[in-house]
Amino acid sequence: MLEVNNLDVSYGASQALYDVSMKAHIGKVTCVLGRNGVGKTTLMKALSGHMSPKSGDILWNGKSIAKQAPYDRAKSGIAYVPQGRDIFSQLTVEENLKTAFSSLKKKDRFIDKEVFELFPVLKQMLGRRGGDLSGGQQQQLAIARALLLRPKMLILDEPTEGIQPSIIKDIQRVIELLRDRGNMAIVLVEQYLDFATALADDYIILERGRVVSEGNQEKLQSSGDVQRLLAI
Ligand SMILES: Nc1ncnc2c1ncn2[C@@H]1O[C@H](COP(=O)(O)OP(=O)(O)O)[C@@H](O)[C@H]1O
Ligand SMILES: [Mg+2]
Repeated sequence: MLEVNNLDVSYGASQALYDVSMKAHIGKVTCVLGRNGVGKTTLMKALSGHMSPKSGDILWNGKSIAKQAPYDRAKSGIAYVPQGRDIFSQLTVEENLKTAFSSLKKKDRFIDKEVFELFPVLKQMLGRRGGDLSGGQQQQLAIARALLLRPKMLILDEPTEGIQPSIIKDIQRVIELLRDRGNMAIVLVEQYLDFATALADDYIILERGRVVSEGNQEKLQSSGDVQRLLAI
């Protein structure tokens, strides 16, 4: 289980997160919601080790990881798919997948066939350069690469941003399948509300760097929180 306690995160003198606390459970999708610029990506960077908190703590299965480097977090099963995907456009699809290997033990350094079951399009495109893929295919590649880490926590920052509806459906199915296996916590940043409400078991809403609401799927549907998100 992930437990974030009272996190403050700053860019130099500019504070982006204030006293943020959240939890994410294995076998559940926890959505981080809120409009542009509220601190969602900053929170994901803090979870993945790309930013250090000024204060507060991040516990993963009871142990503090707040001071661990991204590489060490990857080794302890935390996989991060950043906003904008961040695949290598000059490398082939296969080479992109293999970039996950550096944080894996030798025996685990192979491309699990399962990623082609989840994302069949990647199999046909193994030799193509990442930069030649569509945005949706690049997103699938980025998720596939993260899955090669056999994560216990998968962090997805706006996976639907700028991609076509048919691929959004595919990605939704994959997230549901991974969730239903029950061996991974999924933290999902989303601005596409239909996608988020379909997937969220639990959620938090950020506004100006603070958690202003939180709850479970039922609360998201029944409280005014969906309206609140639509209004902003
Ligand atoms: N590299 C950076 N340097 C300084 N400020 C930043 C940087 N990245 C983001 N910020 C600021 O931090 C706040 C939160 O940004 P971000 O976490 O990217 O929000 P979101 O992902 O919710 O759109 C914004 O005010 C943004 O301008
Ligand atoms: Mg963002």
